[in-house]
Amino acid sequence: MPAEKEAGEFVAKVQESAKYAQLDWGLVSQIAREELRNQKDWRMALKTTRTRLHRLTGAFLTPKLDYAQWIDNFMSLPPDNAEQFKETSKNMMRLHFSTKERLPFLSSFFYTCLQPLGSVTSVLDLACGLNPLAIPWMPLTGNSTYYACDVVDPLISFLGELFSFTGQTGSVFTCNLLQSVPQQKVQVAFLLKLLPILDQVDPDASGNLLDQVNAEHLLISYPSKSLGGRSKGMKQTYAQHLERISAGRNFQIRSFEFPNENAYLLSR
Ligand SMILES: C[S@@+](CC[C@H](N)C(=O)[O-])C[C@H]1O[C@@H](n2cnc3c(N)ncnc32)[C@H](O)[C@@H]1O
Repeated sequence: MPAEKEAGEFVAKVQESAKYAQLDWGLVSQIAREELRNQKDWRMALKTTRTRLHRLTGAFLTPKLDYAQWIDNFMSLPPDNAEQFKETSKNMMRLHFSTKERLPFLSSFFYTCLQPLGSVTSVLDLACGLNPLAIPWMPLTGNSTYYACDVVDPLISFLGELFSFTGQTGSVFTCNLLQSVPQQKVQVAFLLKLLPILDQVDPDASGNLLDQVNAEHLLISYPSKSLGGRSKGMKQTYAQHLERISAGRNFQIRSFEFPNENAYLLSR
């Protein structure tokens, strides 16, 4: 079979599974094609493609998340009840590992890291997961603009509906940051617990993002514990990663430490 036809059929095979059909086609195609080239047969390539896609996305998100039910939960809240809205947001943030881990220090995380900026007028949240649910805990101006993207389609549709419901200015869209960098001009871009994941696929991905994101400030963070809860020298490894990718790029860098996450504010 011609190589291109075989690759197309293989990608379609990977996407037969609902778990991978919900991911941006470009990412699935990129990983599937690499594995088809590297493995000895389809069976092995299917296995390694699924493992890699799981590590990039599925490992963080509760499987079979009922987005329609969550939209209902938000829409059935009594109007103008900020506390209940925040409580529902917190409950949902528990369903994505990255936001769940941040909950114990959520009320200080964004205020501490973004304090040097004063009030924030615009954000680009790259590979956002459920982090836009944390907007009520961010020092944003009343009319701020929030852009957010991720590779998981139904997550993005859900956030789009939520933005329409809350009247949040901005937009939510599917992205594959390994293939292109969104170009919205913003005051600050969030790259939270993102760079080590992209580097697994492309060691140049972090540098490309730093060069191409159109933001005055970049808020970058790294986990300081693995998904299994071990720290294994991660803090030092990722401090070196930050040092390596920022070298020669002329940023002013401030660093912040939280119980399981280290953050850096890079300013141009
Ligand atoms: C560790 S989570 C971090 C989520 C969020 N930034 C946070 O800290 O709460 C990594 C996120 O990256 C997304 N992701 C993985 N590969 C991606 C890619 N190539 N392009 C865009 N998003 C990606 C995943 O779907 C997941 O939501």
